[in-house]
Amino acid sequence: RTRLKTMILGRNLYCFQVIDSTNAHLLGLARDGAPEGTVVLSEFQTAGRGRKERRWFSSKGKNLLLSILLRPELEIEYAQKITLASAIILANTIDQYLKNKNLPPVDIRFKWPNDLLVNNRKLSGILAESILQDKKIVALVLGVGINLNEMPEERDPAIRDLAVSLKELTGADIDREDFLCLFLENFEKDYERFERTLYRQVIDEWKQRCNQFGQKVLLETPFGEQEAIVRDINDSGFLVYEDMAGKLHALVTGEIISGHK
Ligand code: BTN
Repeated sequence: RTRLKTMILGRNLYCFQVIDSTNAHLLGLARDGAPEGTVVLSEFQTAGRGRKERRWFSSKGKNLLLSILLRPELEIEYAQKITLASAIILANTIDQYLKNKNLPPVDIRFKWPNDLLVNNRKLSGILAESILQDKKIVALVLGVGINLNEMPEERDPAIRDLAVSLKELTGADIDREDFLCLFLENFEKDYERFERTLYRQVIDEWKQRCNQFGQKVLLETPFGEQEAIVRDINDSGFLVYEDMAGKLHALVTGEIISGHK
């Protein structure tokens, strides 16, 4: 806490050994009026949440599990872009951390909407949950799970080959406290920059780390699964895809199930 060089982010910090879900807990605090920048950390979650009602598994004390409370005072249209922005900040932090420690770089790729992948395996997942009122965002809780030191044998068998950790990729122990401080400091700086520029640069910066454009994939849409070609991310941060008849659509919620070239 003393090493953290932020003004707002993490100044109000809750640390748990065990909790159900840092997101669930922070949403509760947000409803009770917790200030912007409140952070909840836990060493373990008994009911870690993923997107689409999935679970998030992470063995005790190995990785980072945290949630950040934002109160952006923007219309709901911005929620998606704020979420994409957090993936950018996290990926930049990983690059910077590895560089600072003289470790080999890793090639982080984004999978829409906000998975961080290395060699198609998941390094981190982000879950944004919001409280809305009159078309405005009253609170946005960004939940981040980052696989730092977990090794395959320690991982839940269900995700053993689907996930990957920074230690596995670099062979080095990752200093979780250093990583967290760097992430929160970068987050504070970049969040301010993105907000000041009304998230105009987010889409371009996000696209630079996505190599799914032009790929044929299986998509989960509100109308069921369908084959599609990923074409773009539009100005709102939605996925633009081409269906098999050559027609373009924008996907607001849903996801890319699999990619095959
Ligand atoms: C996903 O990839 O589906 C998103 C995963 C988000 C997991 C993190 S771990 C910390 C925070 N608390 C939760 O319950 N979930 C998020």
